[in-house]
Amino acid sequence: MSRFAVSLFLAAAPALLSQTSADIPQPKNWTAAEDHQNMMDQLGIKALRPGPSGNESAPNHANYDEATANPFPNLPDVLTLKNGQKVTTPEMWWNQRRPEILEDFDREVLGRVPKNVPKVTWSVTQTVADQTIGSRAVTAKRLVGRADNSSYPLINVDIQMIVVTPAAAKSPVPVMMMFGGGRMPGEPAPAGRGGAPPAAGSDPPSTEQLIADGWGYAYINPASVQADNGAGLTKGIVGLVNRGQPRKPDDWGALRAWAWGASRGLDYLETDPSINAKQVGIEGVSRYGKAALITMAYDTRFAVVLVGSSGEGGVKLHRRNWGEAVENLTATGEYHWMAGNFMKYGASEATFGSKNAGDIPVDAHDLIALCAPRPTFISYGIPEKGDARWLDHQGSFMAAIAAQPVFRLLGAKDLGRSDAYKTEKMPAVNVSLLDGQLAWRQHDGGHTDAPNWKYFIPWADRLLKHQPPTAQ
Ligand code: GCU
Repeated sequence: MSRFAVSLFLAAAPALLSQTSADIPQPKNWTAAEDHQNMMDQLGIKALRPGPSGNESAPNHANYDEATANPFPNLPDVLTLKNGQKVTTPEMWWNQRRPEILEDFDREVLGRVPKNVPKVTWSVTQTVADQTIGSRAVTAKRLVGRADNSSYPLINVDIQMIVVTPAAAKSPVPVMMMFGGGRMPGEPAPAGRGGAPPAAGSDPPSTEQLIADGWGYAYINPASVQADNGAGLTKGIVGLVNRGQPRKPDDWGALRAWAWGASRGLDYLETDPSINAKQVGIEGVSRYGKAALITMAYDTRFAVVLVGSSGEGGVKLHRRNWGEAVENLTATGEYHWMAGNFMKYGASEATFGSKNAGDIPVDAHDLIALCAPRPTFISYGIPEKGDARWLDHQGSFMAAIAAQPVFRLLGAKDLGRSDAYKTEKMPAVNVSLLDGQLAWRQHDGGHTDAPNWKYFIPWADRLLKHQPPTAQ
């Protein structure tokens, strides 16, 4: 800089500074209803169809009749390009079909991660080395991933993660990353939450099973990335990038933001020498089951996924009329999970007419296919124990069946069933389909994946060729 330029800069600096702070728009403090209405206005939607009720005794309860469950029986073919050409080679999948599917999910369903999403810098804020998990010594770290907010200092995003590895490991360990707040080893449960010991006869917690098998685990806290409500869309990482202002129709929703957060967690794990970053998996249940599937679908660095009871927006076909529906996802309670554009598919009255589930260019089978050929375990429980019919177990199995051809094309093994997704019936409860990279198991418990961990771990070990430590 010349001396003239320097003095000009110095003279202008105070003005620049004051201009910057005056120019920073305050974040919008809308309710979910206000933000939802704003997105309807942006899209020219005048009315949305109401979603069915999850209360089975309510007059407007969801459909549970197989006879009317398939109003759109034909799924978009996972191995046909938009131009009608069949995908016959792995190259065509990777270079043509996969990008087409991702673009549809980005634009219409989940929203795009913005190009200018800030960099995240991780730091370890606490290390604990004197604790055990299920009697095995562990090393635990608490981390914070701080998103650069220099473009909008009014919003902070500090991603919270906990990483726990077996102390006895002699080489880098595989790690399961799980969506959830989680606790450091030895840290007491907050009063009234999660403190109860497991019921007699139930399996040890997943954390104990993983450590005993020579895995590490990590908790990534989704709430520290993006709030689980519409009012939060002008805050969190979505709000930070938008400088506190509302989303555009193809901006990301909370599910895509949570998945992005998990990917940033994996960035850290790649720098940690105690971890084999080529063997990091992702897990979640329910809304976090949806997020786990999406994480795996988008970020091919994740090696394995356990998708717990994910339902609508996860493994369940949008095109099925059973339990939760597209119209539930487009309402004020859930639209924030999705791209704004997704609301079009629940519109009964709009400038573009009306659209429904049958108009979505992609469906759940495509999302499962994006995980191929990496090991993908789909887990459910049973309605009798609380894994409600609302989730549509059969519709989820049909999606998995329809994803099979992609696993085979890429040299992986499928569920071992025919590709006839319209007629294939899901296996009985507790019958495992675990021979291949695409796997299915409906356990006899409730809305949890806990009873499936003891099937998941040996299955993942076999496919990732992980040797558990010899029993001590
Ligand atoms: C509701 C919602 C589901 C979701 C579940 C959960 O039941 O309809 O889509 O998966 O909450 O996350 O617990």
